Order: sequence, then C-alpha cells, then structure tokens
Amino acid sequence: MSPQGTCPFTSPRSLFGDLATARATDGLPYAEPFGARVVSRYDEIVQALHDPDTFSSSATVPEMPSPFREMFAGRVPSRGTLLGLDDPDHDRLRAAVNTFFMPRRLARYEPWIREQAHRLIDGFVEQGSTDLKASFGLPLPLRVIAHVVGLDADRAEWIGAALGFFLGPADPHPGTPEEKAQRLLDLHDHVLEVMAERKEDRRDDLISHVWDVRDSGAVEMTDFEMLSLFPGLMLAGHETTSNLICTGLSHLLADPARYAAAQRDDTSRAAALEELFRYESAITGMKRLVTRDTQLGGVRLQAGEEVFLAYASGSRDPSRFSSPDALDLDRSWAVPHLGFSQGVHACLGAPLARLLLRIELDVLHERLPDLRLAVPYEELQYLPVSAGRGMVALPLSWTPLPVPERQPTGTVAAPAPAAALPVTVAARRTLTADVVELTLTADGPGALPDWEPGAHIDLELPDGALRQYSLCGRPGTGELRIAVLREETGRGGSAAVHDQVRAGDRLRIRGPRNHFRLRPAASLVLVAGGIGITPLLPMIEEAEHRGTDWQLVFLGRDRQRMPYVDELVARHPDRVQVWPSRELGRFDLNGLWSGLPAEDGYVYACGPEQLLTGLEDSARAAGREAQLVLERFAARPTSAEPNRPFEVALARSGTVVTVGEDETVLDAVNRAGAAVLSTCREGTCGTCEVRVLDGVPEHRDSVLGLEERLAGETIMTCVSRCRGQRLVLDL
Ligand code: FES
Repeated sequence: MSPQGTCPFTSPRSLFGDLATARATDGLPYAEPFGARVVSRYDEIVQALHDPDTFSSSATVPEMPSPFREMFAGRVPSRGTLLGLDDPDHDRLRAAVNTFFMPRRLARYEPWIREQAHRLIDGFVEQGSTDLKASFGLPLPLRVIAHVVGLDADRAEWIGAALGFFLGPADPHPGTPEEKAQRLLDLHDHVLEVMAERKEDRRDDLISHVWDVRDSGAVEMTDFEMLSLFPGLMLAGHETTSNLICTGLSHLLADPARYAAAQRDDTSRAAALEELFRYESAITGMKRLVTRDTQLGGVRLQAGEEVFLAYASGSRDPSRFSSPDALDLDRSWAVPHLGFSQGVHACLGAPLARLLLRIELDVLHERLPDLRLAVPYEELQYLPVSAGRGMVALPLSWTPLPVPERQPTGTVAAPAPAAALPVTVAARRTLTADVVELTLTADGPGALPDWEPGAHIDLELPDGALRQYSLCGRPGTGELRIAVLREETGRGGSAAVHDQVRAGDRLRIRGPRNHFRLRPAASLVLVAGGIGITPLLPMIEEAEHRGTDWQLVFLGRDRQRMPYVDELVARHPDRVQVWPSRELGRFDLNGLWSGLPAEDGYVYACGPEQLLTGLEDSARAAGREAQLVLERFAARPTSAEPNRPFEVALARSGTVVTVGEDETVLDAVNRAGAAVLSTCREGTCGTCEVRVLDGVPEHRDSVLGLEERLAGETIMTCVSRCRGQRLVLDL
C-alpha cells in the first residue's frame, strides 16, 4: 500500500509518494498502470537510457490493435513515430529532423508564437475566468506545432481531433472509434498532400527541411518513413506542452510570491521552467523492452521483459537532488533532470517546448497581471496515472480587462527557398580515366549567380537526387565548371554523371554555397588529395590575383589519375609540387608547417578523410591548428582519441574550471554554477550550445554544419571538447 492508503500507482494524487516508495524498495516492483516493472532510481534510469541496445524502444509505442491495424495498413505507420524505433533506423530518421529543432534556429518563430498567444488571450481576457487548459494550454501548442511542421495553423482544431485517436478513452472529441480512426487516416492523407506540395515548393517548415535533407543525400528514407515523422511529433508536441503549462502554472500560482519571482524576467522564467520540468514532467516515464539478459538495480532482467523508466521518479531521487520534493527556483543545474529524458531518445521537441513555455508565461504575465487559481490548489484534478502526466482542467481567474486595440505583429517571413536553376551542359571533357569535367551555362536569359573560390553547387541528377560538387572554374566568366570523380563504391551519383550526362543536356542546380572561403592571408599552402584539387583551383587564381605567396602540394596515387596536374605544372612550375605516392611513397605532412609563417598564413586542404585527419594531427603537433582550414567530402568521423583535461574560462563570471578527462564541458561549467541547459547529452539536439569567445573547439556533435564547425564560434558542451589547453566561453 502507498502512504496514502491507496493501491500503488492508481491514484494520480499519490503518484510521487508511490514513486518514493518504489525508490526505497529493493529491486524493481511491478506496477499495473505501467504494465511493467518500474525503474525508479536516477542512476539506473540513466544507465538504461544510455544503453539503447539492451533497453529497446520498441516497447514504447504499443502495437495497433485489430481492426485498426488492418485499416491503417500501408497508410499509417504501425509504430507511429521515432519514439518506437531503435537504431539504425532511429538514428537515420532522427538525423533528418534534429538540426531543425536547435534552439537558436527555432528562435525565428518567436514573433509568430507571441502573436498567436495574444490572439487566444483576446478571446477570453474580458471574461475574468477560464479553464486555461481548454482555452490556451491545448490550442496554442497545437497551432504552433502544426505551423512548424508545415500545416495550416487554422486547421489546428481538425488536426487535434484527428490525433485524438491516439488518446483512447482520454480523447475529448466525439465519435466512435471507427470515426476517430477515419479522421486519423484523413490527417495522414493531408500530410502526404503537403509533402507533395513542399517537394516542389519549399517553405520555412519541417516538411521542407526534411526534403532538403533528403535531397542533399545526407539521409535516405522512403516517403512512408518521412510521413511517419510528423503526426507523432504533432501529438507529442502539443499534449506534453499543454500539460506542462498547466501543472507548472498551478505550482507557481499556489504561492503568489513564487509566481512573482518566476515572472521577474526572462532569465527567471527560464530557470523556473527547468525546475518545473524536474518537479513534475509531462512524461511520468516510458517503457523499454529488454533485449538481452542483464542486471539493473541489483535485479537480473531477462531478454523479453519490459521495464518502465520512471523519469518523474529519477528527477526526485534524493541521492541526486537535495530536498527533491520542494520546488526550488534557485536550484543548481549541476545534476540534469530527466523531464525530457536523455540519450538518443531525449525529447526531440524539448527546445520548442522551452521556447513556447517561456513565451506563454511571459504573455500571460503581461496580459493577465493578477492571475490566480480559481479553485484551491489541493482540489485541482489530475488525469489518471499513465505514461503521461497532466491535469483535467486549470480553472484560473483575474480582473476582467478589455481587448486592446492591437495591430498584428506580423508573421515570420519565410526565407526564400533555394531555387533550382536550369543550366545547360555547354561542354563535357574527359580529364582522366575516372574524372569528367562539365561546363554549365545558363539555360535561359538570366545569368548564373556569382560565386567565390571555395564554393560548391548542388547538382540535380537525372533521378532527382542532389550531389555537391566544388566549383573549379573562374568566377565572373558566366559559366560554372565542376569535375566529377567516378566512385564505384558511392551512392551512384557520380556514375550517373559519367554514364548519363552529355554536352547539350539540360540540368538543374542549387547554390552556389560556400563553406570554404578563402581568408585574407600573406601566405597559403594548398594541399589537394586527388579530386580534392577542384576547390583549390579557383583559390590559386585568386591568390595570383591578390599577389599572395602560395604553394600547392598535390597528392595522389598515380600521376595520370590526378586531374589538371599537367596544366598546373605547366603554368606554375615553381609553385606546384606533385606527389604521386605509388612512385614517391608517403608524403611528410609534418614538414608543411615549417614553410608557413606563424602568422598571416593558412593551410587549405581538400581530399580524402585520411589526408585531412593526418593534417589535423600534424597541425596539433605543431600547435598550428588555427591555421588549418579543411573541406571534407563527408562528415567528420567520431573522434577515437582519448580525452585530455583542459581549462574552461567562464568569461562573465571570471570562473575557471578544469574539464577532467571523464567529464563533459557541460557538467564542468554547470558544477561551477553556469546553468547551461541540456536535453539529449549526446550531441544531437543543440540545446547545450554555448558561444566560444576564445580557443578552438573539437566538435563531436551531430548538429553543427561544416561551416559552423570551421567557424568554431559555438560548441555543443555535452560532447565536444577543446583542441588546445583552454576555451573561453560566453558564460
Ligand atoms: Fe543535446 Fe548537447 S544536450 S546537443
């Protein structure tokens, strides 16, 4: 029995008492409402979250029962969402959406969200009382997530009714189960239609973003997999946020002084929200399927068993949080709460929830200054115990106010999509046995866009896929030139260019874009590996034009397979060193640095990963990392180097902390009181990003793009480290 005298985990009011009892109980007690043994202690929950191979997410989303399984076959994904997937599929599909949800990128939605919040409050501000869940808490996140995904926010009510199917008996919308299932099918059909529209006409929304990622070739997925991403996200994105604003407000308003302290400014709102996520998350926990015999919490678990990871309990574990049952708005963030989970399945929408909830608190404070609970705190009703946690209603009151005359603040301007440009293949030239050069000119009256050395274009292949190629001609000539190496083990893009593209063909390109800009310098050493010569060719022209002292080291296996080699040697015999390794053996990369001045000089390199990693090692050994600029063919592999300790200086507080070899920057700075937010703690969500004021980060995340990595202006503190001895962060 629980301390309240009810059966454990059946009374929502006694949930936290029951979880405390579970934490104090040896082993993993079984709980009927969760249908599994409960993992309630912080360390054991974190252990399971960071071991997704042993604790599979396939138990998170229940299988669709008959007759809906048959009704939905081929139209509604059976596991619904990313939540129910394991790697490699989870990793692959999440990579298509996670960069979209980085906090600094979501900030562009703030004006639009504020305007939506004001409009909803206009609808009830004169009444003096409302059930805030029905009038604000539910509709606002639904409008926001619909808009962010790319659907019409004015259809939010219809979308909410369709998603109600997933809520089962808790769905407030009328209709038989079959009618509700039909609404869900209609929603999926509608999302498919919008996907088809966005394929041709990109906007500033998630569906367009996923198309861009697919077109770039970075993530492969089917249309059905793409469809599977959105309804689940919309469901999670509005239900949880709605529950968070209601429970959070109730706890703040229960003590007017506490509410006033939380609403002091934006910083206090953000801090209050973090404590509220710890105190009462919208997710009590999630199930996992044990895939192999293992030990957890001193208990032997067998493959096939299910466990319920009770995040709400972990966030109140007294072994990790002092006075865990007290709401402490000044709590240190040294120990991360589990309100959004952790690891690969950490809440994808957490940055959007944080943004939206902060705006909600702010706008409510501005519009309803004497907001108060309309019923005693103790009488507020909670929904039955389940994996989710929320209130039935949130009755609030205030002094009625008139609706102000207010001009709309305007909507977020959608940046123009990168338009595809038609081009003609004016010439096709064979450079070596496996490299062809294409010269592209404008297909129509308009001119091709300007570009600078280091730029690349996306070339649309005959099958619609996009591939990136560096521009290797001269800017300002009215034509674009690329050289394509046939890669037999590639994804087929280069083979399609070799086999199918001929002079006179019409193609489409996007760009140019530039992640590899030439910085002003007195000296340059250019290092090319094979086809990596392409972006360096226009740099040579530019260096000549600027009067820069330059040298080229051109590496390859066989001279006859090195494109442009004879032209280069003929034009610049004193500046080009050709190094075919089959004849000359291994090139000494360490020797490069002795010929480069310690200031005002750079090594620019493009080529295979082995070459670039070798250059990074040699630069580090020479203490010249800041003088190395790289263009990679593919994303940087995860570092296999052992961690070294280094110093981090917090510029605003003046504190200096040492990041130990087994510690993250995030933990070290939060230990020093910095209050950096985190969600996944695995470098995939962007929540923990901090500005770098000095020092060179060693990026180990999966969210920053190449240009952002090279710029080194920010760091994902949960995984990335330092290339030197010291980083100075804007904290
Ligand atoms: Fe997610 Fe660092 S917490 S990237």
